[in-house]
Amino acid sequence: MALKFTALGSAAAALLSAPALASSRRVLAPMSEGPFYPPRAWRERWEDADADLTRVQQGSQVLQAQGEPLGLQMVVADTQGRLIDGAEVEIWQCDAFAHYRHPRVPVVAGRHDPGFQGLGSGRSDAQGALRFRTIRPVAYPGRTPHIHLKLRHASFGELTTQLFVEGDPGNAGDFLWRRVPAADRAGLAMKLQPAAAASGLRWQAQQVLTVPA
Ligand SMILES: [Fe+2]
Repeated sequence: MALKFTALGSAAAALLSAPALASSRRVLAPMSEGPFYPPRAWRERWEDADADLTRVQQGSQVLQAQGEPLGLQMVVADTQGRLIDGAEVEIWQCDAFAHYRHPRVPVVAGRHDPGFQGLGSGRSDAQGALRFRTIRPVAYPGRTPHIHLKLRHASFGELTTQLFVEGDPGNAGDFLWRRVPAADRAGLAMKLQPAAAASGLRWQAQQVLTVPA
């Protein structure tokens, strides 16, 4: 299902010129895919893998995700501050019941959310910008809330990491967050802000995704 987003050009420019971000052009700290990245065969026949993870088309029906809707604005830029046009970006995360969509994860009625897409993809525009609509990530046993992220582009190849929620009390005890060097943490921490009611979102965040030049 296609999303209708307003132009992000000025937002991208404002985001990139924010002093804190302009001065921290560190490449996203890489992390492994983890066990829940859907295998290629699954991804290729995913019935609905657009940038809106909160709606799932099922025949003529549209299912709506449970959880707190989060609008994620992203700008892909390299360490020189150049905006990356045409980067393929995938995000995947568990649903509000902490259930991943993955062939190894059994589907138990009442313990997963059929309205949550699980994985979404988008492509950055000429301003390096793209948007996702998803839910605020939730914790699951052993992990603090996070969103998995994979970027692909001819200029840098492939980069895989995770985004965290800035200030989440679970971060300090998370084995992966603890391994991220202090200087790299800002690049992976989403600053969640309350969204305007009219947006239909509960939260919004803007994230610069810094890739190798
Ligand atoms: Fe995960």
